This record gives sequence, structure tokens and C-alpha cells, in this order.
Amino acid sequence: MVTMSLQGHINPMLNFAKRLISKGVHVTIATTEDGRSSMLKNKDANSSEIKLEFFSDGLSIDFDRSDTKTLLNTIQEKGRKNLSNLITNLTKNQTFSCAIVNPFVPWAIDVIAEHEIPCALLWIQASACYSIYYRYFKNIDSFPKFDDPNEKVELPGLPLLEVRDLPSFILPSYPLHFKELLADLYKALDKVKWVLGASFYEIEEEIVKSMDSLTPIYPIGPLVPPFLLGEKEISDVNVDLWNAEDSCLEWLDNKPDSSVIYISFGSLVVLSKKQMNNIAITLKNSNKNFLWVVKPANNGGYEKEDAAYELPEEFLKETEGRGLVVKWCAQQKVLMHPAVACFISHCGWNSTLETLVNGVPVIGWPSWTDQPTNAKLIENVFKNGVKVKYGEDGVASVEEIERCIRDVMEGPNAAEIKKKAMEIKESARKALEEGGNSSKNLNQFISEINGLTQQEVQ
Ligand code: UDX
Repeated sequence: MVTMSLQGHINPMLNFAKRLISKGVHVTIATTEDGRSSMLKNKDANSSEIKLEFFSDGLSIDFDRSDTKTLLNTIQEKGRKNLSNLITNLTKNQTFSCAIVNPFVPWAIDVIAEHEIPCALLWIQASACYSIYYRYFKNIDSFPKFDDPNEKVELPGLPLLEVRDLPSFILPSYPLHFKELLADLYKALDKVKWVLGASFYEIEEEIVKSMDSLTPIYPIGPLVPPFLLGEKEISDVNVDLWNAEDSCLEWLDNKPDSSVIYISFGSLVVLSKKQMNNIAITLKNSNKNFLWVVKPANNGGYEKEDAAYELPEEFLKETEGRGLVVKWCAQQKVLMHPAVACFISHCGWNSTLETLVNGVPVIGWPSWTDQPTNAKLIENVFKNGVKVKYGEDGVASVEEIERCIRDVMEGPNAAEIKKKAMEIKESARKALEEGGNSSKNLNQFISEINGLTQQEVQ
């Protein structure tokens, strides 16, 4: 498997690796050097079942990788050579039946083809985004001009979208190098033998079906750690890029069931001061329990100028006892905890899958990349949550945040959302049980790789 060292990219690859090793497949994950120290400092980072290998992206370790343009340009040139050398070295002693990439290393597809290894793409976001990007980059459907965020976009298998719901990498307001990266991926797609998805069929049925006549996607998820599905954990490998503050789990133990609002914006997004302030005012007025992840500065995020990393002292004092603020937590365990009532989330796809498998209602607070589309799916397709509406300044007001909290925590609307969330939780487990849709797709993939290996042996 090949991935960059980003938490949101490594997690689904690792979860896929765990599924594969449970079926007797050996897995090596090759990732960039900048993740080495943080991965290896977690003592469980290298297990005998999953091998970790590192290659340089071509930049020094202390280079500020929030300069994504330089990062992507360098990795495409130097990183690809380093990956190729790594594969050359590794293949001296072993044969790879298949190499699996995620969408953000499209240049690796060529490297893998040069080494004559069959290639699979693991689409680590919603199948909806695979479909939207496909239809855009391959000119399958017509898209409006992107200058009006309210403009409607009608695509097969998807709810009626507005421009603001599209994954942001195709929008002109975002740096061109992200769009070019995805354009490269869709150009390289004919060298990919399998497109697998981290999602599951049951939640995106129409979307998955709509791709069958194009380049089908085979969902094999939800790709979350097995313990989240009530299964035995398959491997002790752990690639957390930051140390989690476990004290928050004990703190949750002392809170009543369904009483805590959990708030986190993933590993990259940092909110503006005004946004943070509005959340803080709402929480203070609400008298509700909350657990809030606020990452420290220089944490590898894509930081805006007015980014906020701390909450005012007086807020922490005023909410003492019912509020806990941490720098990073074991989110998957937090979302499993009965005390958690709902999740104010940036709607990264890993976080979204983690809420779906735990039946936790969501308040979607999307920022960029696939998050706006995921928030739309949450409100309109999965119906396990609501989406905040931003004002003209791009900030959600205190009244709006209060409305969202009411919607998911109180009254008949909240009951309906919780019911839907619990139904999805059930279907997530079924998808991966023997005979479930994801389980069938996974078995099919493994038998096809095995078939190829057998042919080679003969
Ligand atoms: C990025 C993109 O932003 C996201 O939109 C895309 O779908 C995947 O890549 P990220 O922003 O980090 O990911 O969000 P997400 O996909 O939700 O992944 C974050 C991961 O970090 C989750 O698995 C979550 O459990 C974990 N996490 C987050 C923690 O373990 N602790 C925390 O405190 C916060």
C-alpha cells in the first residue's frame, strides 16, 4: 500500500490492511519519511503482520508541508523515484501480488505499472465524491459554472446538489494543484485494475449503481478498526500521528448517557477565532456537557491567518466540570462511549464512517475537500444529522449552532435522526458480515489477486 503520511489517509489504508491480514494476506505499507518518527514513537507502530516502510517525499523533515504546492510538485518528481527505489529493494526478497494506492498519490500508479505490479485504487472518501470527480474530469455530465454557490447541480444517483456541496478541489476558489492532482488520478485510472471504496453499499446504493456502466467502484467498508464494529481487534498496529489524551475517556465515564457534545474538526482544519468564539458562547449558554478537541498551533494543519488554537481562560473556568478541552483524543473510543450524544464534525470521511458505525448523530460543519459533499449526504441521504448554515461571512452564528444542537438532541426531529443513525449502525455491521455486500467485494478482490498470483506461479 502506498500513502502519504496524513492521518486521514493512513487510517483507511491501515483499516483495509487489517481486513486483508484477517484473510491471510501479507501487507506492507509504504509511506513518507515525515511520518516515521511520529508513527514509530507509538510503541505499537510496527507489528509483525503489517510492515511499515518509508520513502522520502523529496523534502527535508522540517519542511513546512502546509505549503502543499511545493509538497505535491516535489513528491511527484522526487518522491516517485524514491518509491521506485524502495519497490526495487523490497522486490529483491519478495513478490507483490498487488499494490494499493489511495487517490492522493496518482503518480505512484505509473511507478507501480513500471514495476509490472497489478494496481488497485482504494477510494478513501464517499463513493459520491468518486462519482462527482469522475463525471467532471471525464466530461460525462455537464456542470454549471462554479461562480454561484447556489447554482444547482444534477447528477445521476446523487441528491440535487448546489455548487457549495461539491468537493472543493474542482472549484476555482481552491488552489489549482489539488485539481491537477485529481485530474492526474482520473487520467491514470485505466492503469488501475480495481477501484475499491472505503464506504459501504447500503448507504450509497444509488450512487454506487450509477457508476456500474462507467468505471465501477466496489465498496468494502466501512473501513474502520474492527473493534468499532464489536469485532476482535486484528492487529495491534497503531499509526496515530499525535498522542491521545486518554484522560477524556475516564472523564466520559462520569457523565450520564447521551449527555456530551463531542467537537472535533479532524487533523487538518483549524477554525477562525470568530467561529471558535461562537461555538464557545453556545456551549457556555447551553449548560450541556462537552468534549472539544482543539489542536495546538503548528500541528501540520492548513492554517488560516486568523486561526485560533486556544480558548479563553474564562471560558474554561466558566465551564469547568461539564466541559473538557483536549489537544487530541482517541476519537474512535470517544465515539463508542455511551455518554456521547452527538458530534459537531468537519465531516472528514473517516470521522463520518466512525459516526455511522456508532450510531452517533452529527452536526456537519464542513470546511473543504470532500467535507461539503459528506455534510450534504449526512443531512439528505443518510439522514443521521444536520448541517450548519454559514452566514455571508462564512461563519455559523450562535443562534444557528443552537438550532443544530436542538435538532439533534431534543424533540421528535432528534428522535428521528437517532433512529436513522441506529439503523445505519446495524447495516454497517451487516455489510461486513459473511455474505454482506462489502464482505463479498473483499472476497472477490482477494480471489482475483490470488488468481493472478497462481497464474504467475504456473
Ligand atoms: C482528511 C480530509 O480533511 C478529509 O476530508 C478526508 O475525507 C480524509 O483526509 P482529516 O481532516 O484528518 O482527513 O479528517 P478525517 O477523515 O475525519 O480523519 C481524521 C482521523 O483522525 C479520524 O480517524 C479520527 O478518528 C482521528 N482523530 C481525530 C483522532 O484520533 N483524534 C482526534 O482528536 C481527532
